[in-house]
Amino acid sequence: MRRENIFFLLILSEILYQTYCCPTSCQECNGSSQNCNTCKPGFFKSGNDCYACTKPCATCSTNATTCSTCVDTANQLTPTCACNSGLVMNTSTYFCESCSSNCQVYSSPTICTQCNDGYWLNGNQCSPCIKPCANCSLSGSNCSTCVDTANQTPSSCNCPSNYIINTSNYFCLQCQFPCATCQTTVSYCLTCATTYTIDSSTHTCSCQNNQYEVNSTPKTCQNCSSLCQTCKVSANNCGSCVEGLHRYLDNNQCICRQGYFQIYTQCFKCSPKCFTCIEQRNKCLICSDPNHQLILNYCICKVGYYEDSSMKCSQCQFPCATCIDNQDYCTSCIYQDYQSLIEGQCICNDGYQLYQLFQ
Ligand SMILES: *[C@@H]1O[C@H](CO)[C@@H](O)[C@H](O)[C@H]1NC(C)=O
Ligand SMILES: *[C@@H]1O[C@H](CO)[C@@H](O)[C@H](O)[C@H]1NC(C)=O
Ligand SMILES: *[C@@H]1O[C@H](CO)[C@@H](O)[C@H](O)[C@H]1NC(C)=O
Ligand SMILES: *[C@@H]1O[C@H](CO)[C@@H](O)[C@H](O)[C@H]1NC(C)=O
Ligand SMILES: *[C@@H]1O[C@H](CO)[C@@H](O)[C@H](O)[C@H]1NC(C)=O
Ligand SMILES: *[C@@H]1O[C@H](CO)[C@@H](O)[C@H](O)[C@H]1NC(C)=O
Ligand SMILES: *[C@@H]1O[C@H](CO)[C@@H](O)[C@H](O)[C@H]1NC(C)=O
Repeated sequence: MRRENIFFLLILSEILYQTYCCPTSCQECNGSSQNCNTCKPGFFKSGNDCYACTKPCATCSTNATTCSTCVDTANQLTPTCACNSGLVMNTSTYFCESCSSNCQVYSSPTICTQCNDGYWLNGNQCSPCIKPCANCSLSGSNCSTCVDTANQTPSSCNCPSNYIINTSNYFCLQCQFPCATCQTTVSYCLTCATTYTIDSSTHTCSCQNNQYEVNSTPKTCQNCSSLCQTCKVSANNCGSCVEGLHRYLDNNQCICRQGYFQIYTQCFKCSPKCFTCIEQRNKCLICSDPNHQLILNYCICKVGYYEDSSMKCSQCQFPCATCIDNQDYCTSCIYQDYQSLIEGQCICNDGYQLYQLFQ
């Protein structure tokens, strides 16, 4: 058998043997026993057995903490493998990291006992406070002081309800009036200041259509007068009039339309006899019929006319001089010297005959 082949078999038998019998921490057992001659790297031999070295030892001798080599060979020295001065051990990797300026007091090169402002003692090391915490303890968000001391209070350092936080500098920003509460920006309203109404599609607050804004501090919305559909500056300074009240806009006032008169706040229609009236339906200022005459604010048909069922003045029929209710019912006669009035009829006296000139 060639030398190489013998060597190969030896290795193979060794591997098989160890796989079945030798502890995994052992590099080489003594013969066929489980007694270890040499341990694997990272283990040290005590008696016939191998025990793991304690990090940051990479390898150790005599006991777990007497390091022969270190995890971080560049920054640690045997036998303790403590980090060189100015460095902090990362407790998960066991490598040394540059000692953050965040530690104020060390008890040893690797152990911080007091952190700088803005950091909290996280085990042996310093972790930053989570803004808006300025200082914190026991956790990053258990604030003892806040970034915005004027508006934030520990331990949460939340902004007040009518503020949002500036996510760049963690100061609170007040919602812009008339937003009462806002989101993302100071003018994106979630709720409105008192008396203001939200537009839920634009997230803005404003006075309602039939309101006006009063320049008080703070500003408020006030109702327009019941006559105004819209108004400005004051309740009675109308921009338009409410429909259906028989009013029109005249010099920012809502006035009763022509043919209507006002009692308290309501407009009522004048009598058909009146083109315009005042105080009551029959108290006319201008009559509606040219055959009316206005006497003490009353529209009365002129002499020779009677008031028909539609309250228009119609002419009395010959030979009535005056009539009532209809054109034929005379109350006086044209030829009164020769006629007698009998039950609304003008009857010629004896010896006279009615002769109509124009027919
Ligand atoms: C290996 O075992 C033999 C006997 O089985 C013993 O004589 C020898 O000392 C042992 N070697 C070590 C290193 O323990
Ligand atoms: C490890 O060994 C060193 C010196 O050999 C000794 O100073 C130290 O106390 C030992 N540690 C333990 C845990 O036995
Ligand atoms: C330790 O190192 C790991 C891996 O590099 C890193 O993720 C972790 O932040 C470090 N821990 C500290 C406290 O610096
Ligand atoms: C953090 O607290 C200390 C006192 O504990 C104080 O002197 C320092 O001003 C605080 N830092 C900040 C940023 O508020
Ligand atoms: C917050 O920190 C204070 C000390 O500043 C401590 O008394 C309190 O228990 C901490 N709270 C939490 C939830 O960690
Ligand atoms: C938020 O803070 C940043 C940084 O200080 C500043 O530039 C920005 O103007 C602030 N935003 C508002 C809305 O004030
Ligand atoms: C304003 O008008 C609304 C109805 O349009 C009414 O509910 C409210 O009470 C009014 N407000 C005031 C202060 O009069």
